[in-house]
Amino acid sequence: MKIAVAITGASGAIYAKVLLEQLKSLKNEVKEVSLVWSDNARTVWDHELGNRDFEHLPFRSYDKNDFMAPFASGSSSYGALIICPCSMGTIGRIANGVSNDLITRAADVMLKERRKLICVVRETPYNLIHLRNMTTVTEAGGVICPATPSFYSNPEGIEGVVKTVTDRVLLLCGIDVKGYRWNEPEE
Ligand SMILES: Cc1cc2nc3c(=O)[nH]c(=O)nc-3n(C[C@H](O)[C@H](O)[C@H](O)COP(=O)(O)O)c2cc1C
Repeated sequence: MKIAVAITGASGAIYAKVLLEQLKSLKNEVKEVSLVWSDNARTVWDHELGNRDFEHLPFRSYDKNDFMAPFASGSSSYGALIICPCSMGTIGRIANGVSNDLITRAADVMLKERRKLICVVRETPYNLIHLRNMTTVTEAGGVICPATPSFYSNPEGIEGVVKTVTDRVLLLCGIDVKGYRWNEPEE
């Protein structure tokens, strides 16, 4: 399984940080992880996390204008694109087929090839345009997986709370992450 991860300028850089750390530890399950950042994603990461932790990750990053990246084409073997966090601007461009950068082009490819597109959207409240765009992406086969944590596992700390979302994202990709499952004994 090869996975592309796009990070956009929605609040919630910590979701990307935790997801990337989990992917790093899943090297037996995930053959390759590639990254692409929107312009505002790094600004938000700096503002919210104030670190450069992404520099130590063993993943290749592609420029957001690099349409030569493998996952810009349906002939590549990438099985999923996770957009985490996903801004309303990005979801709007995807919903309207505006494939003007690598993130939106890769999303377009995932939908046309009937592969997994998981959008970890973050905004509150939603306006009607946001809701319509998310409906369109869902109708086209994408999964809207909002950055909405759960609390029934009594997660500890901010990262524990964030992980309740990123675990679900990885499960959606077909990766059997160990962790809390409602009313099932923990493995
Ligand atoms: C600190 C910060 C937090 C933001 N949070 C959100 C957010 O939660 N959701 C959202 O849709 N946009 C948010 N934005 C605005 C987006 O970054 C902006 O609309 C940007 O153009 C989105 O483009 P991108 O998807 O290419 O990153 C935020 C911007 C900043 C600076």
